[in-house]
Amino acid sequence: MTESTETTVANTAVVTAATDADMRALGRRIAARVRPGDLLILSGPLGAGKTTFTQGLGEGLGVRGPVTSPTFVIARVHPSLVGGPALVHADAYRLGSPEEIDDLDLDAALADSVTVVEWGEGVAEELSEDRLEIAIDRRPDDSRTVRVTGVGARWADRLPTAE
Ligand SMILES: Nc1ncnc2c1ncn2[C@@H]1O[C@H](COP(=O)(O)OP(=O)(O)O)[C@@H](O)[C@H]1O
Ligand SMILES: [Mg+2]
Repeated sequence: MTESTETTVANTAVVTAATDADMRALGRRIAARVRPGDLLILSGPLGAGKTTFTQGLGEGLGVRGPVTSPTFVIARVHPSLVGGPALVHADAYRLGSPEEIDDLDLDAALADSVTVVEWGEGVAEELSEDRLEIAIDRRPDDSRTVRVTGVGARWADRLPTAE
């Protein structure tokens, strides 16, 4: 085993999305800041808006849609229509264990794509020590509080949601 120095730099932005259109707009805004090799981990309960966010991200990246809840497949690849990175959209909901995420071979596509894992909290972190964590909370008035945290050196010099 070689020794390594781990540098974890985290920066967080908290955003309110009043409507699903706002959530999509946040996805588009973040699309402008991601680059190939980025991993986004989405958390929040059922109906929080994880897929809605991913739809905006897909629009912003200019990938082939539609982006839908990956209910019957665990991961779907949306190729770029504009010569950019593909969007890999995965759903870890039915994965039984962190080991199962290895079976998806997401890391093969990770370097060239933008990878989003819904329900990825606790299972997808091992894919990359650098990641954008997006935690969505649903409020009683149906607005959502979105906490966006850049983790690792890849995000050290990038604000996660700046205009
Ligand atoms: N502020 C909001 N942000 C996101 N979605 C919202 C908001 N208000 C209402 N919604 C609705 O909530 C649902 C979120 O569903 P979805 O994105 O599939 O959630 P998840 O993927 O987290 O289960 C959609 O029907 C969407 O229209
Ligand atoms: Mg979903």
